[in-house]
Amino acid sequence: MANILANFELLHSSSKKLAAEASSVFPSGVTHDARAFEPFPIYVEKAQGPRKWDVDGNEIVDYIGGHGSLLLGHNRPEVIENVKNALLRGTHFGSSHDLEIAWGQQVLKMVPCGEKLRFTSSGTEATMMALRLARAYTGREKVVKLSDHFHGWHDIVVGKLSNDESQPQSLGVPDSFYESLIIVKPNDIGSLSDVLANNEIAAVILEPTGAHWGEIPLDSGYLQKVRELTKKNNTLMIMDEVITGFRMAPGGAQEYYNILPDLSTHAKIIAGGLPGGCVTGREEIINILEMNAGGSNHHSQQQDRVAHQGTYNANPISAAAGLTALKIISTENVTEQANLTTKKLVNGLNNIFRELSVPGSAWGMSSMWHFNLGYEAPFPNNIEWDAREAPRGVPDKKLMQALRWSLFNHGVDLMSHGGMVSATHGDKEIDDTLTGFTNAIADLRSEKLLA
Ligand SMILES: Cc1ncc(COP(=O)(O)O)c(C=O)c1O
Repeated sequence: MANILANFELLHSSSKKLAAEASSVFPSGVTHDARAFEPFPIYVEKAQGPRKWDVDGNEIVDYIGGHGSLLLGHNRPEVIENVKNALLRGTHFGSSHDLEIAWGQQVLKMVPCGEKLRFTSSGTEATMMALRLARAYTGREKVVKLSDHFHGWHDIVVGKLSNDESQPQSLGVPDSFYESLIIVKPNDIGSLSDVLANNEIAAVILEPTGAHWGEIPLDSGYLQKVRELTKKNNTLMIMDEVITGFRMAPGGAQEYYNILPDLSTHAKIIAGGLPGGCVTGREEIINILEMNAGGSNHHSQQQDRVAHQGTYNANPISAAAGLTALKIISTENVTEQANLTTKKLVNGLNNIFRELSVPGSAWGMSSMWHFNLGYEAPFPNNIEWDAREAPRGVPDKKLMQALRWSLFNHGVDLMSHGGMVSATHGDKEIDDTLTGFTNAIADLRSEKLLA
């Protein structure tokens, strides 16, 4: 580890200086938990297509892709052009504008369950609104989420698995929030069925790929059973498509799996790399946002409806970027292209693991990939996880930490134990990534961190 870490520090000395400055400005020196990194995070100067360059001049194959928002890669020319045009018109009108209509129409055209929508500024806001709409629509208070599934950081979805579990995901959430959140183990259809049978659940919210964009996959057929059970119990099914939307297919996971939720939540790709999100779905549910939803015409901000404000909702710059990105996704084969690249990458990684007798395996789902390392994990038959046992990722935290340092030293940045592939990643990026992994495996072995 000494050499891997020493090389990391040597190659990233300018990042180290910036991190020292940042540590007195931000907690842990960062502005998003996922960007925290020991001994310091890297600082990026610029990005293009599938790559980014840090402040020390290191070139990096980027698998974070704007936390999953950049299916088209960094700086897709049409997106940049239309953002520039929108900027010249004004950054914020505090009024309605033409681009938000075109953007909304484009979303409704692409998302199968979408009959009407409301824009938000982030995915967290989208799931918060979807759950509030579900409560308002059903008149029920409790909601169900699946353990480990991530839906943002607001109070309603920050939970713990059971009352006797000591560790909530966050301090500062009032106990009353836990009372209205029920967490069920994924793939356990019996538990879900029992919970729904009481007819007191407003909605089930889930990541359609399984937790963390497929890191803990769902059994095949599980989503369909959730759909059937929720329908039977008059509970709404909310697909959180913040990551999967416009990625797994132009219409997201609901198109890919051919399962229609009542509501779906979106962010990331929807806004073309700028801030933005939305809730869409059945019109009669979304219409609870109508000013006269309760039947009166008093234009109430508060009564008989779900109120919704938000200074940056559908801001014109996000609208321009989002509209342009979505049009490209609906007319070019970008999702298929990224899926194909991911398949090649996963197969390439598994070939390396086999050839070098590395204990581990890789798998993928659409243009998202993951790997296990440090234990004898089964290989998938194709690229999707199909083993009976659940994947374990990289249980040895020291190994994972050293792998990240080493991969940075060899020009690869991961998102968690894997990454997001864009339509701009190609054979060159796959070659560079496989070379990066081969070198990292040698580094880890030389420091006796990997068998
Ligand atoms: C599935 C899912 N839902 C919701 C969110 C929250 O979105 P945001 O970070 O835009 O608030 C995320 C963010 O990664 C996510 O992956």
